[in-house]
Amino acid sequence: PDSATGYSYEECTATADWLLKRAPERPLVGIVCGSGLGGLAKMLKDELVINYCDIPNFPQSTVHGHAGKLVFGTLKGKPCVCMQGRFHLYEGYAIQKTTMPIRVFKLMGVETVILTNAAGGLNQDFKVGDIMIIKDHINIPGFAGHNPLVGANDDRFGVRFPCMSDAYDRDLQQLVRAVADELDFSVFMRDGVYSVLGGPSFETIAECRALRQLGADAVGMSTVHEVIVARHCDMRVLALSLITNKAVMDYQSEKKANHEEVLETGALRAKQMEKLVSTVVSRIPNT
Ligand code: 6GU
Repeated sequence: PDSATGYSYEECTATADWLLKRAPERPLVGIVCGSGLGGLAKMLKDELVINYCDIPNFPQSTVHGHAGKLVFGTLKGKPCVCMQGRFHLYEGYAIQKTTMPIRVFKLMGVETVILTNAAGGLNQDFKVGDIMIIKDHINIPGFAGHNPLVGANDDRFGVRFPCMSDAYDRDLQQLVRAVADELDFSVFMRDGVYSVLGGPSFETIAECRALRQLGADAVGMSTVHEVIVARHCDMRVLALSLITNKAVMDYQSEKKANHEEVLETGALRAKQMEKLVSTVVSRIPNT
């Protein structure tokens, strides 16, 4: 096994301790902001902002629309840590490196991880601007052996063969639905299955059709590897996709997937996404 591809428990602990020395308090909720959704971090009160480039062992973010900052602070009184910018497979990191911050979350005391992303809609009932509560995933790179848990297992994080049929916490999904109802957001709330591809190229028409036939409602390039690592170390997971564009499913269409559209839709729904997540955070029960 090539254990040099990831970070050891000791390296993750060193990073967590370095951060805890600076953080105002131990975070209970860890949030990962997707493309165009980093504004959530600005809602944190009494915040401390640390650039990824200043954090020992931390990978560096390279994508436009992803800031590369870790923000500590409270959201309606609840101590949180927020990643503004995440690490993707297509940036060239070993998959074990992309998920290292999730383990740092765990070691800092985080109990609940909330992940957001921008995704293409495969389900024809979905509209651009819909928010999909992820109820399950299809890890396409995983079919080919690309799983963040590949390599020697460290039992201090979790078991060798973790269960994934309960990856997406049902109580948290219920909480999102209840909050969305109160906020009058129900018209654009959906739930569904998120499929991940490595990227960075968007899908072909045939790939979109194949994913739809497999049971996927949305497609993206992130989140799933983070979910797997978060569940491995037994944190609760909530994941939300903003449907920023409809995946191109037929040969008559003139539409082309592009990153600008992804960021534009993110901007249109960002405020509501922030309101939804911050309200949910304020109601998450501590374990
Ligand atoms: Cl259409 N595909 C993928 N892979 N990621 C996306 C997307 C589409 N739209 C936003 N992110």
